[in-house]
Amino acid sequence: MPDLRLAVAPMVDRTDRHFRYLVRQVSRGVRLYTEMTVDQAVLKGNRERLLGFRPEERPLALQLAGHDPESLAEAARIGEAFGYDEVNLNLGCPSERAQEGGYGACLLRDPGRVAEILRAMVQAVRVPVSVKMRLGLDGGESYPALARLVERFAQSGVEVFIVHARSALLALSTRANREIPPLRHEWVYRLKEDFPHLTFVTNGGIRSLEEALAHLKRVDGAMLGRAVYEDPFVLEEADQKVFGLPHRPSRLQVARAMRAYLEEEVALGTPPWAVLRHMLNLFRGRPKGRLWRRLLSEGRSLKALDEALRLVEEEVGEKGQEEEKGPEGKAERALALPREGV
Ligand SMILES: Cc1cc2nc3c(=O)[nH]c(=O)nc-3n(C[C@H](O)[C@H](O)[C@H](O)COP(=O)(O)O)c2cc1C
Repeated sequence: MPDLRLAVAPMVDRTDRHFRYLVRQVSRGVRLYTEMTVDQAVLKGNRERLLGFRPEERPLALQLAGHDPESLAEAARIGEAFGYDEVNLNLGCPSERAQEGGYGACLLRDPGRVAEILRAMVQAVRVPVSVKMRLGLDGGESYPALARLVERFAQSGVEVFIVHARSALLALSTRANREIPPLRHEWVYRLKEDFPHLTFVTNGGIRSLEEALAHLKRVDGAMLGRAVYEDPFVLEEADQKVFGLPHRPSRLQVARAMRAYLEEEVALGTPPWAVLRHMLNLFRGRPKGRLWRRLLSEGRSLKALDEALRLVEEEVGEKGQEEEKGPEGKAERALALPREGV
């Protein structure tokens, strides 16, 4: 079974390969997911652009959306050939576009079709196939109905269930759907009790590593989305506390690693802003954090990053030393760590 103790949620326009690379500098162990990718795009689009990633990003899952078993199976096969560690089916997106395209959360209305899709995907690949689902649809959810869905999908060979622990309200906006229906993590706990042989990851509203650790007492994994985008250092202690890895980089170390990455990417033709935009929150809540953000968003270049780096280096102290100021400006000793190629 894949190690899903801690994962970063798939997020359109957020979890592209640049942001994933950044998160990987913070945590080696956390499992990463791509943005939702529609099967037809995989079949007909520019595959390298859509699916390409760096090996450092692994463990990495490809999230697919669609409604046709054969197309999804083919897209899963292509994803596996690209080297993804897992293929995930989106059963949670409530957007109008998803409803028009017949994919995402609205598929929960047709469990028979989902079961058929999953069977085709499981047969197509050797890597694990997982689902990311909601508790139900339009407020009509109940625990027994949810358990029946899980049982049915498991019969197709799926063993990993990521549950965004609220229902989807298809008449509301996508944004409202991340806030309004109440979270019921306890239903996911109950699923784990009722199906102990399956893997359950709970998702929704988890803001800190401590909260994630509390969920881990009841389920196999916790998935964080917005909290990681808003401050990737929410995962600062993840390697030590969850994965037993001696890795706890400072913000400055991550910023320097990203500088090297940006330089390489620019040489490959990537516009600097495609990378820099994901780095705006890197010093969130820290001294000079706002100035960092402003320099990057106004300059949008490698030069602007160098200027911002100089600024935080001055704030932190001598270059290369492993001291960083805590939120109150107090010097805190970061754990001495090898930079592992960072
Ligand atoms: C900007 C944004 C984009 C999202 N895109 C996806 C997506 O592509 N696929 C998906 O399954 N969920 C998507 N979600 C939902 C998240 O994966 C997650 O389930 C949700 O944000 C709740 O977790 P959180 O409270 O930790 O953010 C998105 C959420 C946000 C904020």
